[in-house]
Parts: sequence; C-alpha cells; structure tokens
Amino acid sequence: MTNIPDSSNPFPENVDQVFTHCRVATMAKGNYGIMENAALAVSGKTIAWVGPMDALPETFETIQVTDCRNHWILPGFVDCHTHLVWAGSRAREFEMRLAGVSYAEIAKAGGGIVSTVKATRAAAEDTLFDLASRRMSHLLTQGITTVEIKSGYGLDLESELKMLAVAGRLNKACPQHVTATFLGAHAIPLEFSGRADAYIKEVIEVMLPRVKAQGIATAVDAFCETIAFFREQIRQVFEKAKDLGFAVKLHAEQLSDSGGTALAAEMGALSCDHLEYLSVDGAEKMAEHGTVAVLLPGAFYYLKETKVPPVAVFRQLDIPMAVATDLNPGSSPVLSMTPVLNMACLLFGLTCEEALAGATLHGAAALGLADCKGSLEPGKDADFVIWDVDTPADLCYLTGITPLKQVVIQGKTAYPQG
Ligand code: NIG
Ligand code: FE
Repeated sequence: MTNIPDSSNPFPENVDQVFTHCRVATMAKGNYGIMENAALAVSGKTIAWVGPMDALPETFETIQVTDCRNHWILPGFVDCHTHLVWAGSRAREFEMRLAGVSYAEIAKAGGGIVSTVKATRAAAEDTLFDLASRRMSHLLTQGITTVEIKSGYGLDLESELKMLAVAGRLNKACPQHVTATFLGAHAIPLEFSGRADAYIKEVIEVMLPRVKAQGIATAVDAFCETIAFFREQIRQVFEKAKDLGFAVKLHAEQLSDSGGTALAAEMGALSCDHLEYLSVDGAEKMAEHGTVAVLLPGAFYYLKETKVPPVAVFRQLDIPMAVATDLNPGSSPVLSMTPVLNMACLLFGLTCEEALAGATLHGAAALGLADCKGSLEPGKDADFVIWDVDTPADLCYLTGITPLKQVVIQGKTAYPQG
C-alpha cells in the first residue's frame, strides 16, 4: 500500500475502526457522491473520515480493520414514515379490495384503520411489543437503521400511550434509532362517530398534554382527508402541538386535494406525506417553508391509485423528496425499503439517485435528523450498510433479493450478529 498523505483530507486520530477496500456512495447533499477504492473510518459512534485507500496509514495498531472486498457502503436507510406497531390482520380487506371495494368504502363501513384500532386496543402492551420487535428485526435485515413509528391505532388515551410506550421500548431494545410520532388524529374512533370535533377536543385537551408528559413522542402527525379530519381540525391540533414543543407533520392530499399541505407548511411542518393530489399552490407553500415531501409508493401501489404525486414540480421547486415504506397493515404492508425504491422509480418516475437520496438523507431531513443521519460524512452517526452489489442503482433495480452483507449502527455491527 502506498501512503500518499492528502493534506486536504488527512486521516484523523482517535479512529477505532476502519472499513477498507470499499466503494462508497456518501449521498451527501442528496447526490451519489461516489468514491471508488475508498475507506471509511469510525470513531466511537460517528464517522471520522471517508477517503481514498492510498491515504490510509501503512499500519494500524489499535484499529479494528474490516476488508469490504470492493463492496458498496451506503448510509443506512432512514424510514421516516411507518405505522409499525399494530395488532390484527387486514388480509381479508386486501381480498375485498381485489374484488373491487375501495379503501374509502371499507373505511366508511367500519373496516380499515378502525378495524386495526379494535385489535390494537385489545392487545396487551407486551403482545404489541413482541409483534413490533419482530418487524423491527426484519427491517434491520433490510438495511433500515432509523425508523419513525406513529401511534394512531389506539385513538383513546390509554391505547395511544400504550403504542408510544412500545415505540419507546423498541428504541431501547432494538439496534435501530426509533423516533415516535403521536398520530391521535388518524381516524375518528367508533365511540366518537359523527362527533369528530369532540374527538379533536379530546386529542387537544387530554391526549396531547399526556403524550408530552410521557416524553417519548417528538412529533405530532394527523390525517387530513374526507375520511378523516378537515383542515380546521388539523389547525387546532397543530397549534396545541406546537405550543407543547412538538414538531408537526401531516398525511395530506392522499386521496383528494384537501388543502392540508398548504396549512401544514405554513405551520412549519417538517414534512407532508403521500401528496398524490397536491396542487402547485400547495407545493409552493412547501418550498417557501422548507417542508420535505415524503413519497409513499407502497400505499399508492397497494391502493391501486392512478394519480401520481407532482414529482416534476418538486424538482422544479427544489423540494427534497423522501421515500418511505409507510409500513402498516392496510395500505402498505411492506417490510423492506428496496421494493419501495423500485416502486418510487417505476411508478413515480424518480431516478435511482433520487430514490436512494429519498431513503437516506431526505428521509433524515423529514425527521429533523439531517445533521446526524442519512449521509456518510465526518461527524455524522456511523450508520451504514455494506451491500454486495455492482452499483447503488442495483438497490432500486433488483427485486426479490436484499444483497446485504453487514449493517453498522452508531459504529456497532447490528447485523449479522456475531
Ligand atoms: O399512511 N393514510 C392514512 N394512514 C395510513 C394507512 C393506515 C391504515 O390503512 O391502517 C397510511 O396510508
Ligand atoms: Fe401513513
């Protein structure tokens, strides 16, 4: 090995691990940022250095060396939108949809979200934890290193707190970083049927303060749609959420143009998610306020939607596009990121580079974590995946295989376990 010091990017001190002979897609600034014949150094929980092999010191004394054998290293996937904690199954509903009944019709007839609410309310916290931790373990094998988890299948104080407690336990028990979001305004629970305003009052006056006190959720989400809540109800929830210091984000424009995105962007939302029916006006508000567009092609695919989100407008207005699984038992029972990348490319027209940026850096931005997650840059968390692929585009192109060798989270090998 030749040792040609690069004074602009010198190998740092205090390195305790180095991954050599790799190809790296840093995804910095949302671009591939490709470095061939590279090495990546880790110090504690963070990335210390990414640079050329020939800038490495000739010998390592106390440094643990992993030879990557020319495999690719990419940032771990940041899944910025999931409903990972639930009980029950919606396979029957899937069959009904195949027979021609729509998602909205099923929801109106008391199925859909409300049926998962019934099963989730009935489940003990430990049962929910078991179900959810199995899903988390699987996501790890798919290269997902950060997971946002929403409540919203409880819809009463006790059950919402139970879901958030499960998210908190997962954060401690699983290697991935979990961020929890309170989604009390997800659907109108049966006992409030026809009294949506009264339920919103309950969310604002009873649930939000208790969720704040519990201290696990960092954000508040809501579902703005004809089958859920109106803009004015969302505004009230967000005002209280912001008063309590939560970040806000919104399920918006999924099935119709309800104008929720413009409201959420004006209220400083981190992200608006789904967005198939978004108007140019709404997109302009997102651009003005720096709101991330979270695209959820799994839900689009499973619901056999036909209207695609305005990707050309997002590009034109420079709105960062994140891509997430939307893992949930109804509209997106998808437990992997690579098929979602494939759908983002084929169904929504993203390039492979955009899709990968969506599942890494822009996913992190949608969670307010872009300063520590989502790209391979010194100072950020050492969350990355070693892939046995020929090119990063393979992660969007191949389906039915997850060619993953190793997952590292905050400097520790999380998968495979030793
Ligand atoms: O993101 N749109 C609303 N919420 C979920 C669906 C949840 C469900 O159907 O259980 C979504 O698609
Ligand atoms: Fe969702």
